[in-house]
Parts: sequence; structure tokens; C-alpha cells
Amino acid sequence: MNALPEDAPRVLIVDDEPDLCELLAITLRGMGLQSDSTGTLVAARQALTDASYRLCLCDLRLPDGSGLELIEHIQRTQPHLPVAMITAHGDVGAAVAAMKAGAFDFVNKPVNVQGLRGLIDQALRLSRVRAEAGTVPSLIGESPAMQALRVMVAKLARSQAPVFIRGESGVGKERVARLIHAQGARASGPFVPVNCGAIPEHLLESELFGHVKGSFTGASADREGLFQTAAGGTLFLDEIGAVPPAMQVKLLRALQERAVRPVGARQEIPVDARVLSATHEDLAALVRDGRVRQDFYYRINVIEVTVPPLRDRAQDIPALAADLLARMAGGERLELTPAALTALQGYAFPGNVRELENILERAAALCEGPQIDRADLHLPAACEYPPQGGAGGDDLDAELDGVERARIVAALEATRYNRTAAAARLGLTLRQLRYRMLKLDLN
Ligand SMILES: Nc1ncnc2c1ncn2[C@@H]1O[C@H](COP(=O)(O)OP(=O)(O)OP(=O)(O)O)[C@@H](O)[C@H]1O
Ligand SMILES: [Mg+2]
Repeated sequence: MNALPEDAPRVLIVDDEPDLCELLAITLRGMGLQSDSTGTLVAARQALTDASYRLCLCDLRLPDGSGLELIEHIQRTQPHLPVAMITAHGDVGAAVAAMKAGAFDFVNKPVNVQGLRGLIDQALRLSRVRAEAGTVPSLIGESPAMQALRVMVAKLARSQAPVFIRGESGVGKERVARLIHAQGARASGPFVPVNCGAIPEHLLESELFGHVKGSFTGASADREGLFQTAAGGTLFLDEIGAVPPAMQVKLLRALQERAVRPVGARQEIPVDARVLSATHEDLAALVRDGRVRQDFYYRINVIEVTVPPLRDRAQDIPALAADLLARMAGGERLELTPAALTALQGYAFPGNVRELENILERAAALCEGPQIDRADLHLPAACEYPPQGGAGGDDLDAELDGVERARIVAALEATRYNRTAAAARLGLTLRQLRYRMLKLDLN
């Protein structure tokens, strides 16, 4: 028989009858699927942490408990993994109990190969769809910049090259990294994010590469590093600018050799993890300052992706806000009033999408009823509208002035008060910008 490709979907079989396990394994193999067989609940739980499965076929009665327990365990720990229960022919009660517990389907014993094939096809499709609908994030926004970013992400997902993601804080760098992982061949492997800035310098090496017992005080047992944890998947090194130069040399080697040497170990061990990195800092400037080595910079920066700040894509704000509100609303549907939306679109968002998220979270907590109004947003004063004039507060001129003012202030702040650049950002000539600033009494 030909060997299956390494990334062939893997199925976990949990049954204490070796003959049945073998029959299932042969059938699966014929469908191009790999499988592992275990005979107990304990072994099954272990297998689930050791490997990544697309489907689990589980017997109801196992030597150390009921298959229903395993379904419950999987529901809790890996809700996207479909489980099919193997039940004795005609045992409807067991089949129903299994489905109630969350099984995707059931298989009758003796196993009918044709039926099993259909079930497997379905389950594999389901696990794909479920994964896409559930944990895999998408990039919200129809601005040209976001559309271009999505195309770029799809392209990068098909390659194995290291990608460096740059962008201000809160723009969505991690989200982009997760998406590159989720759309790629490693999607079924782990995505392991590491905030390099949050790990003390002296622990970074052992965190990333692991260590052997006794290699330093406190190393009481062998420990695997995050590179190994990410094997078959993606390691996301966030705040890469915080990695000290000595460690950069070691990372460089790990990337180059596709191997790491745990602290205290004699030998390197091969690791297969794709590395993505990010920082909100200007990496090229860090190179100039000597904080980042040139050779390291070139190695991690094979492809660079920039996530633009939110104020440069104000047209994405309504869709983003709707998405964020839908994610945070505990059942009830919240929406923004038109005035609130206008205020948001005029705000500069120094903290980008994360700040939008925070503003909406606070507003959702404060607002009464299903609508969030401008006042609920509590936008920082510098970038907010002037108080509305007139008694009624819905004077159109004042409102339009407010929008204009907020947009101009945001553009000026974004360009560090460079009027020519601000005008270009707003699609105005410098003269037009000057005129409007004069009219609004803005200096
Ligand atoms: N295009 C987008 N669509 C939907 N949600 C987004 C988008 N961009 C960012 N977010 C959300 O905004 C928040 C911040 O994003 P993320 O953590 O990816 O930013 P970051 O650039 O890594 O931030 P930091 O620099 O603070 O680490 C997250 O909750 C993320 O889900
Ligand atoms: Mg981040």
C-alpha cells in the first residue's frame, strides 16, 4: 500500500475490539485517511492532546467508562471535532443518547463500509465548515486597504515564508497572523502566540527552545519549548523588537536550520513550525539603533505586511462596530444611532480597532435600551465634536460642522499637523483645507 501524505486527515478510533479497530483503520486508509486506535477512555484523552484529529469514532462501552464521557470531554475541549458513536445494531437508545450528548452521528455494529464512507465524508466537511465558522476569524472591512490585505493574507497562507506584520498597536496584527495560519496548510496544527515583550529576558530562550532537567536552577524537569509546541503549526512572535540581540542570533539559527537546541541539551532537535512575527515598533529604526540585528531583520522580514491604522479607513468603522457589538452582546442586539456612528467615523482612534472595541464595550455597559448614542461613547474630548449648539441639538449645520471638524482634527493628528499631508488624506487641496480650518476657527 502507498504511504499516505503526512497531512492526510487523521481519525481517532476508540474501541476495545482489536478486530473492529483494524477493519475501521483499513477502511479509513482506503479513503486516504490516517488513523490511530486506542482501547480506553484514558488513552483516547491522551491521544487527543498528542495529535490533531478531524474525526473521532468511539465505542459506547469501554473498559474504563462510557463513550458518552468522551463525547462530553470533546465538547468541552475541542468543540469543532465531530465524534461518531459506534453502537450495537438496533440499540436506538444508545444512538439517541450519543447524539444528545453531542455526537455528530452514530455507526452501527457490524459496520457497513459503505455507510461508514458517507459518514466520514460528511464529518470531514463538517469539521471544515465548523472550524471556519467558529474559531477562524475574518478581516472585517471593505475599504480598499482591507480588501488588499485579504488578498495578501490568502497569498501568504499558501507559502511557508516567514512574514513580518507591522502596524500600530491594536490594528489587528494578531488577527492577520491567525488568518494566515487558518487559511494555510497548517490550519489543523496549533497557532502559538508568544508575546516576546512579556517574557523576562533570561527566560526567553528556555520558553522558546525548551530546556533539559537541571540545566539551571528551577529546571526540575525536561520542558518542551514553544517552537516544539507549535510543531506542525505556526509560532507567532509578537513584539519581536523586544528580543535581545543574543537571542536574535539563536532565533536566526532556529529559522535557518529548522532545529532548536533546548537549554542544557547537547543536540538540536528538528522543529517544523512556521514563524510569523509582528511589532508596533518601526523595525527598520530598531535596526538603525542597533537593537535589532541586520541579519535577523532580513530573516524574519522575508515578507512584510502592513496593517493600516483605523483612521485611514474610516469607512470600515460601521461594519467593524456591528461585528464587535454582535460579538459582545450577551443575547441582546445593540446598535449605534446615526449620530454615534458619525462621531466614531470622525474620531482618530490612536488605539485603533482595540480602542473601538473598548469604547463599544463601555458604551454597551452604560447605554440604556438597545441603542448606543453619541453620549454613551464618551469619546476623548480632543477628538470629539464640539457640544451641539441650539436647544434641540439637531441643527444640521452644527452637526455637519462637527463632522468636518472631527475629520480635519483627526487628519491633522495623524500627520503630526502636517497640513499638506492632512489635506491629501482628506482629498482636499491645501487651500481648501486652510479655508475650512479658518471657517471652523481651527488653528
Ligand atoms: N479587521 C478586523 N475585523 C474584525 N476584528 C478586528 C479586525 N482588526 C482587529 N480586530 C479586533 O481588534 C482587536 C485587536 O486586534 P489584534 O489583537 O489583532 O491587534 P494587534 O495589532 O495585535 O494589537 P497590539 O498591537 O495591541 O498587540 C481584536 O479583538 C481583534 O479581534
Ligand atoms: Mg497583538
